[in-house]
Amino acid sequence: MKAHKIALIPGDGIGVDVTDATMQVLNAAAARFGFALDATRFDWSCETYVATGRMMPENGIETLRGFDAIYLGAVGWPATVPDSVSLHGLLLPIRKAFDQYANIRPHRVLPGVEGPLKAQGFDILCIRENTEGEYSGAGGRVHHGRDNEVAVETAIFTRKGVERILRFGFEQARARRKHLTSVTKSNAQRHSMVFWDEVTQLLAPEYPDVTVSHMHIDAMAAKMVMAPQDLDVIVASNLFGDILTDLGAAIQGGLGFAASANICPDRSGPSMFEPVHGSAPDIAGKNIANPIAAIWSGAMMLEHLGESAAATAVLSAVQAATGQGVGIRPGSHGTGQITAAILNALEA
Ligand code: NAD
Ligand code: IPM
Ligand code: MN
Repeated sequence: MKAHKIALIPGDGIGVDVTDATMQVLNAAAARFGFALDATRFDWSCETYVATGRMMPENGIETLRGFDAIYLGAVGWPATVPDSVSLHGLLLPIRKAFDQYANIRPHRVLPGVEGPLKAQGFDILCIRENTEGEYSGAGGRVHHGRDNEVAVETAIFTRKGVERILRFGFEQARARRKHLTSVTKSNAQRHSMVFWDEVTQLLAPEYPDVTVSHMHIDAMAAKMVMAPQDLDVIVASNLFGDILTDLGAAIQGGLGFAASANICPDRSGPSMFEPVHGSAPDIAGKNIANPIAAIWSGAMMLEHLGESAAATAVLSAVQAATGQGVGIRPGSHGTGQITAAILNALEA
């Protein structure tokens, strides 16, 4: 039987609950479609950091390289480890080390879910640049704690980086409603964002079947709420994409619905799948985290592994569950109840 090697990093807080829920569903799908998920669990987390002084071992990246895919729950426990330490010790280095430059985040309102805007038919795909831009890590601080202290955090945009994420976006638009909106802030940021706009214009003639719009990030935030039906694929920089995808999640009905894939398109390294949300310390340990975002991310992993039929079945089961009213409002059902409804639908 075909077996895919998966590195499992549940992480912190609800990351653990939603990873367990996801693996139950993915294993059930694997059994039904005749393949196996050979999962190896890594307890890399803030707890590990407190015990060892590291989020992952020194050879963590090399260890992950041997897997077909990485599945991650969520990382962060600010009560014990500063977020800037935990995220730079695990999540962000993985995205960069394996050149997972395309962060794919689908935002769709599922059957039965209303969300705060009652945005039936809401269906956009955010393609977020995932390795450079505002997250490049270039910068520093001098004169710590003094009146003349200076902190610099430089956003870095390279032609290679901008061109490849835009091309990825154009390809995604081709496979959907053939409309791409490039999101920048080129009215205020006249170097990097004007450059981004120029690269978009340069590439557009190569994709004549795709219509292209340019929007500033502030206008896009309003558009996603007021007229999302005009949008299809959105391409944005690392930070802009981060913010817009929490907005997208909220329109979907909450953070518990937004899935995410960090893709290394040339497959030179493993890709990583994780929900958009974090470890949610406010609800951790209460069995009320919605596992749908995580399970949907798991379906994206199956698709990436070539198990399209299983991926489609998982997503259909999620939709069947919400269609029956399960998990449609924050707190309406527990993590276990939502998972059970999805498993039932999968087996039906
Ligand atoms: P968060 O996404 O963890 O939580 C934001 C809000 O959404 C909270 O009220 C939470 O209860 C709710 N929420 C999130 N996921 C939910 C779910 N599945 N079901 C129901 N409600 C859900 O964001 P935060 O509070 O800003 O961050 C908490 C920690 O997670 C921090 O350490 C942060 O750095 C980290 N974080 C990690 C990731 C990641 O690992 N990919 C992403 C975002 C935040
Ligand atoms: C996300 C998260 C991360 C990001 C954080 C935890 C560093 O918010 O995946 O959206 O900003 O990329
Ligand atoms: Mn985010």
